Amino acid sequence: MDDLPEIVTPPPGPKGQEIIDKDSRFIATTTKTSPVAVYKAKGALVWGVDGNRYLDFTSGIGVTNTGHCHPKVVKAVQDQAAELMHFAGTDFYYAIQANLAQRLTEIAPGKGAKKVFYTNSGAESVEAAIKLSRWSSQRKRFLAFVGAFHGRTIGALSLTASKVVQRERFVPTMPGASHVPFAYCYRCPYKMEYPSCDIWCAKIIEEVYFQQLVPPAEVAALFMEPVQGEGGYIVPPSDWVSEIRAICDRHGILMVDDEVQAGFGRTGTWFGIEHHGVEADIYCMAKGMGSGLPIGCIVFREDLDWRVQGAHSNTYGGNLVASAAAMATIEAIEEEDMVGNSARMGAHLHKRLLELQEEHDEIGDVRGLGLMQATEFVKDRRTKERAIDLRDKVTVEAYKRGLIMLPCGKNSMRYIPPLVIKEHQVDAAVEIIDESLKAAKK
Ligand SMILES: Cc1ncc(COP(=O)(O)O)c(C=O)c1O
Repeated sequence: MDDLPEIVTPPPGPKGQEIIDKDSRFIATTTKTSPVAVYKAKGALVWGVDGNRYLDFTSGIGVTNTGHCHPKVVKAVQDQAAELMHFAGTDFYYAIQANLAQRLTEIAPGKGAKKVFYTNSGAESVEAAIKLSRWSSQRKRFLAFVGAFHGRTIGALSLTASKVVQRERFVPTMPGASHVPFAYCYRCPYKMEYPSCDIWCAKIIEEVYFQQLVPPAEVAALFMEPVQGEGGYIVPPSDWVSEIRAICDRHGILMVDDEVQAGFGRTGTWFGIEHHGVEADIYCMAKGMGSGLPIGCIVFREDLDWRVQGAHSNTYGGNLVASAAAMATIEAIEEEDMVGNSARMGAHLHKRLLELQEEHDEIGDVRGLGLMQATEFVKDRRTKERAIDLRDKVTVEAYKRGLIMLPCGKNSMRYIPPLVIKEHQVDAAVEIIDESLKAAKK
């Protein structure tokens, strides 16, 4: 079938290698995962420069939720680019920015009045949330979770605690950020079991941290991902999330929900936090918002607004072409019920991964919501010793077979195809993972 992978030249291939060599020569070191050089994409398929067709289970790190080059988004971008690309919406006015902001306040959870500030990336959304919460509360401290990923700029990095390599040599970061353990039940930091633990990892915030380390009246905001992303696709229990909300309420702390990775239909609802039945005060968005155009935003309770000209602003926020892409993204998600497809295909993928777990003892855990799924690889299911090498080998074996994957956490693999993925493509991906695991174990 022409909507499944096909490998004609083992990657990277000669043309791919040329690009890789030049990239290594001229581009700074980042986070490269696989030697796959590509030039075009459509839906869930990506074409390599040496003739290979890949199935994309990364969506450009959770960005192309509507599928690569969705025709509606492409047309909106082309039309807008031909009319007006940029005029600085922070200083002047364009209809599309205001219209998009209205739509964003409608789809963001919560019925109360909200406002939007546009950014250009996830990290910039987090920076805006840091500044808005400090400004409106006149408090200076922050709480975040161990395992969290909120971005790499210095403010956002102060809240990130996913991998030591992301922080090493970058201290001092922003002062005033403290981390508490996340509800990672598969590897409970307190070696307890849910639910008999009585969600101690939430209660410890008031019982220990607020008594001995963090004066709660100085905390401006708590940052939380509804599903921890880069940290390993960890889904917290919903009663834990409600307790976190209650703690914020008891101490006048703003709750910031970082939907940069879990938003825009990824988890089978518009936003990840909807699974937990909780509303936040500030939502951080980016990635899936623009289907590939760089745009992000915060959507926040209207009463938190700076209300002072110049307190916060930027140049490109809500750039016209990116705003057109975001508007078309929201419309495409609605018109094609991509949120529903994410829930349906996510359930199917989850079931298929559980079946795979029965075949392979090395799959210690299968977890996720909608099309935000992960498998955690272990050497031994009882000791849960992490099988990092195996996960890395599976990633290699998978791209050799035409499936592009990304790791997450220390020893997990994420499955985040575009939300337009079809059932037989999910099945093909799971079969490739099965073969890749068998090859990697040899
Ligand atoms: C939850 C979350 N927040 C923030 C960010 C940072 O986004 P960006 O890379 O666009 O700065 C990421 C990126 O992976 C993320 O997953």
